[in-house]
Amino acid sequence: MTALLRALHADITTLAVDAIVNAANSSLLGGGGVDGAIHRAAGPELLEECLTLGGCEPGDAKLTKGYRLPARYVIHTVGPVWHGGASGEAGILASCYRRSLAIASKLELESIAFPGISTGVYGYPVELAAAVAVESVRSALPECPSLREVIFCCFSQPDLKIYQRLLNDRIGKDEKWR
Ligand code: APR
Repeated sequence: MTALLRALHADITTLAVDAIVNAANSSLLGGGGVDGAIHRAAGPELLEECLTLGGCEPGDAKLTKGYRLPARYVIHTVGPVWHGGASGEAGILASCYRRSLAIASKLELESIAFPGISTGVYGYPVELAAAVAVESVRSALPECPSLREVIFCCFSQPDLKIYQRLLNDRIGKDEKWR
């Protein structure tokens, strides 16, 4: 059974999924944006566990528990900083999604929610990042048989529209193909 891909306009810290993905920085010591929101909602034990992880390379991902969050786990990943698109940003971003899904698959998780990794402070244009996100998730799904639901958690209506267009467009294509 293939996973359902959905786009939602929500605060990711409220989602009761098996894992939410955090757009962290390489120190894993917290920050602003979604990183700050996740640490605030999870409570201090999250930082305590992060301190044991020894940081995270851009494109890689590391697992912690969710603590006070409704999500069971947090998968921390570090996206690329946008430098115009000619410094390998798309490859690093795709790796964030692939590595996060690999961790979810190893734990046989059924549901995961991603924020728009790198599209805030790190400056990655949302349309470009969303295309990488949807494509890398779709191509990684065959290796994640346990996954039933992948949520692209948008923090604004415009972002939601971009993801919905990408997800509907792809279904449209599949329909035509069939
Ligand atoms: N729920 C869902 N999405 C959110 C939330 C939230 N509570 N808060 C912010 N976002 C969205 C932003 O609107 C943006 O679309 O998450 C996306 C990622 O933005 P950032 O959080 O700024 O992350 P990023 O661009 O990857 O920059 C990472 O910012 O917070 C620091 O420590 C972090 O240094 C790292 C850098």
